[in-house]
Amino acid sequence: MKTITMINGDGIGPEISDAVMKIIDASGADIEWEIQTAGEGVIETEGTPLPERVISSIKKNKIALKAPVTTPIGKGFRSVNVQLRKSLDLYANLRPCKNLPSVKTRFDNVDLVIVRENTEDLYAGIERKVSEDRAESIKVITRSASERICRFAFDYAVKNNRREVCVVTKANIMKFSDGLFLDSYRTVAKDYPEIAQREILVDNLCMQLVQNPEKFDVLVLPNLYGDIVSDLAAGLIGGLGVAQGANIGVECAVFEPVHGSAPDIKGQNKANPTALLLSGIEMLRYIDKCDCADKIESALFETLRSDVKTADLGGSATTTEFRDAVIKNLV
Ligand code: NAI
Repeated sequence: MKTITMINGDGIGPEISDAVMKIIDASGADIEWEIQTAGEGVIETEGTPLPERVISSIKKNKIALKAPVTTPIGKGFRSVNVQLRKSLDLYANLRPCKNLPSVKTRFDNVDLVIVRENTEDLYAGIERKVSEDRAESIKVITRSASERICRFAFDYAVKNNRREVCVVTKANIMKFSDGLFLDSYRTVAKDYPEIAQREILVDNLCMQLVQNPEKFDVLVLPNLYGDIVSDLAAGLIGGLGVAQGANIGVECAVFEPVHGSAPDIKGQNKANPTALLLSGIEMLRYIDKCDCADKIESALFETLRSDVKTADLGGSATTTEFRDAVIKNLV
């Protein structure tokens, strides 16, 4: 039995995490869930949306599955997601984006993996207001963080039988910062002769992604471009309800959907658990429970093919009906 921390979140978090735990349990994955509450619901009793016990649980178990957590606006709390990434040094943001059966999109041949550096770039938070009319942000790129994320991308490609890792920068303009990221990629790439290499500028990539997304495989990007391009890629496969993600570090990994806590549909049994379920499937693969992962993925695809879908995908199934249909399709 493997113990996993489950952060069941707030908003639609508890509904979708309940559905996903039941599906994973029904697959025979033999997971013991250590449920950790976080977010708005615990602020009053514990004084913070991210109590230390949550971090300790992840540090102990090494792996967490996380439902979305609301970031209270204007109450002085830092985002739970940013805090988690910082305190666990989750340096790699992984976003596989692949078409799902019966989910209508403009393309039917998208199979991309976005690897985004999670710790530096313009998100290092070094900003200043020089005057009322001038503000400055510093873009931090280091060789160590850039080589680490590029190595992560190549290792992922090898482990998952991908053919190419393409680096995305604007090194023609930001010659020092993006230039260093590109140079780090070239250094690391020498160790992976079996994986095809490609270099592209981020503006050109965006245009090509919305025309021919099938031409790309694994993409590795600095933080800001990664943030933007991964949402673009989520749009290519059907949007928020189906976009999965993971934040991975040396010691710990947190698997989570891209979407937020959807307060507008909270408690209505309407939320689509697919993105969290796909994150759970990726988590099972990460802990080498590939058989169960494959089984759940087939059941999910079968469910979508048989047109059982939640409202966000144009269907009429409730969260619990969708959950039960996936469980029924597990073989
Ligand atoms: P959101 O992703 O929660 O919702 C945007 C729209 O998509 C809403 O109409 C919502 O109903 C719909 N939606 C999202 N997920 C869905 C699902 N699984 N099934 C069906 N419909 C779904 O984004 P929003 O409203 O900007 O953020 C709400 C809260 O979530 C904020 O406090 C934000 O800070 C937080 N958030 C948390 C994240 C996390 O924990 N990783 C990520 C993004 C936002």
